[in-house]
Amino acid sequence: MNNNDFIIRRETVNDYHNTENAAREAFWNQNRPGCDEHYFIHVLRQHQDFVPELDFVAEAGGRIVGCVMYAKSRLIDENGSEKQVLTMGPLCVVPEYQRMGIGKALLGHTFPIARELGYDVVINFGNPDNYVARGYRSCKKYNVCFEDDIFPAALLVKELADGALDGRKWFYHPSDSDHPCDDPEEFERFDAQFPPKVKGWQPSQEEFYIHSHSVING
Ligand SMILES: CC(C)(COP(=O)(O)OP(=O)(O)OC[C@H]1O[C@@H](n2cnc3c(N)ncnc32)[C@H](O)[C@@H]1OP(=O)(O)O)[C@@H](O)C(=O)NCCC(=O)NCCS
Repeated sequence: MNNNDFIIRRETVNDYHNTENAAREAFWNQNRPGCDEHYFIHVLRQHQDFVPELDFVAEAGGRIVGCVMYAKSRLIDENGSEKQVLTMGPLCVVPEYQRMGIGKALLGHTFPIARELGYDVVINFGNPDNYVARGYRSCKKYNVCFEDDIFPAALLVKELADGALDGRKWFYHPSDSDHPCDDPEEFERFDAQFPPKVKGWQPSQEEFYIHSHSVING
């Protein structure tokens, strides 16, 4: 597929359901049987930390085939100084369009806009395979950890400006927008709006378990 076969544009209200369906297609059975990332998107858009200027979709043949979204989050150093950063995610591309450069293009399109908005650091929790080629490095390399001094293998940090992080220790405080599924009944009502799909196991779930339970030592 060449670059003319898809476009990247801002999401509009009319896209919401189709974007959520694309996320559901992309994440279905990826990390667990079924998925809730489409509900996360639904809730995230209403959250105070959501950054609408960075809400983009990829469209191919009139269909939404991918999206990327960001939320404001914080780094706090050992003296209590705060730095506002971005948490990237979800990033997704429907299976039929994966490995064609769309995920790369969604990041490549939004990083400069994030920089223009004044952000110089992007963080996300994900499979390093998908991100190291985009300039993300291990959180350990930038001394960014969770409050309990844990440096997760899946916690990835990208500087949008060289030297944005100066080596001092930072504690990462993600937005609470990433805990949307506390009400299982509400989630089930939401999910029922989408086509039926079969929940099941696939090897990527074991990969996700390994990545999300691993920490960097040394
Ligand atoms: C992860 C995801 C967003 C990547 O998007 P994508 O459009 O499939 O990825 P791209 O085609 O842009 O390629 C990204 C990288 O994948 C690798 N890649 C691309 N084509 C590939 C191929 N044919 N075979 C193996 N790897 C390939 C490369 O490392 C590429 O980077 P590079 O071109 O700099 O080498 C997408 O696959 C997805 O939605 N997966 C399911 C949901 C998910 O896991 N989201 C991420 C949460 S952490």
